[in-house]
Amino acid sequence: MKKILLVFGTRPEAIKMCPLVNELKDRRSVETVVCVTGQHREMLSQVLTAFKVEPDYNLAVMEEGQTLFDLTGRVMSGMRRVLEEVRPDVVLVHGDTTTTFASALAAYYLGIPVGHVEAGLRTYNVRAPYPEEFNREAVSSIADYNFAPTELARDNLLREGKDPKSIFITGNTAIDALGTTVVNDFTHPELDWAQGSRLVILTAHRRENWGEPLHRIFRAVRRVVEEYPEVKVLYPIHLNPLVRSAAEEELSGCDRVRIIEPMDVIAFHNFLARSYMILTDSGGIQEEAPSLGKPVLVLRDVTERPEGVKAGTLRVIGTREEVIYEEFRALLTDEARYNAMSRAQNPYGDGLASVRIADILIKGKTNV
Ligand code: UD1
Ligand code: UDP
Repeated sequence: MKKILLVFGTRPEAIKMCPLVNELKDRRSVETVVCVTGQHREMLSQVLTAFKVEPDYNLAVMEEGQTLFDLTGRVMSGMRRVLEEVRPDVVLVHGDTTTTFASALAAYYLGIPVGHVEAGLRTYNVRAPYPEEFNREAVSSIADYNFAPTELARDNLLREGKDPKSIFITGNTAIDALGTTVVNDFTHPELDWAQGSRLVILTAHRRENWGEPLHRIFRAVRRVVEEYPEVKVLYPIHLNPLVRSAAEEELSGCDRVRIIEPMDVIAFHNFLARSYMILTDSGGIQEEAPSLGKPVLVLRDVTERPEGVKAGTLRVIGTREEVIYEEFRALLTDEARYNAMSRAQNPYGDGLASVRIADILIKGKTNV
């Protein structure tokens, strides 16, 4: 029986791999093994609970304020032990994190085939997002299966000379996840707080935004909130202490900005669905917002998700304070602009990406 090992370690990887774990576990013709690296701890365990996934291995590598050096080393050596013990026929990794890169590299060193879920996303700027662009490009040069979410991602891989037989367009498993989380009868104390206001969701954590860019983002948000009394901002903050200290410095004492602990994914998706708009530097939220029809101001200089820009939902605005301030205000005051960005469109698939990936892994490459 074919043995498939899925490896993931951070919140976004978990949200997009758990639907696939559950799909593979439903198939009797394969053995499914799950290893989490524990690159994230609390934020990972929230997702495992939400999707009822119990890992077979947990490397528990996370340390407070970890560096890329320690993290890469710990994941590599931990994965070597797991791979030597499990000896899977294929290892599935997701996206572009250090867990993804180091686990794929460990599998490659041991001659074990690698399947890359969410393959082919590119900015072609190896410093943005950092180090994610390097991670995903490096995994593409190792991967035997490339599960591309969209045609655009497939085209990137083809242009780079990847074997066409290794590439499959599947849709993004983010949409599989979203299909199970949003409900009509959602209640939450923060929703009561937001009642009657324009609720804006804020998230920010990217490495290239650490330091001054984060301060500029928070200052711009504060200025707009102070000017528009009907606006309330909910900010479920990342557990990274660097992000927390910047937010504390710039946003404390501002009543209509509420900073709360990371939300479990079910609650968070329901908040997105009920929001007026979103400000974020996240990758995954750029995939979720188009199908919810929520305008997103992307707090980055570049995106690897141009499909959402083309769909009209995303505007990539960078991190200059004045630009964020003007763009944020424009979405509050310019109805035509708001309406144009809030039409629900979903370029990321039909919610069956996990089914397709499982079929391909079980039937082999030759049937496609
Ligand atoms: C990582 C990924 C990034 C992804 C992000 C999703 C890399 C290099 N970066 O960045 O691609 O977008 O996850 O959130 O792989 N922490 C906790 N508890 C947690 C999670 C994090 O305390 O559950 C704190 C720790 O102090 C940790 C720090 O956050 O050292 C940073 O975590 P890390 O995974 O290194 O970086 P992220 O910025 O989360
Ligand atoms: N998310 C969540 N709780 C939160 C904030 C975000 O569950 O408090 C989800 C969000 O819906 C998306 C994913 O986490 O699916 C994005 O994770 P993150 O921003 O940490 O990473 P990125 O997508 O930038 O890699």
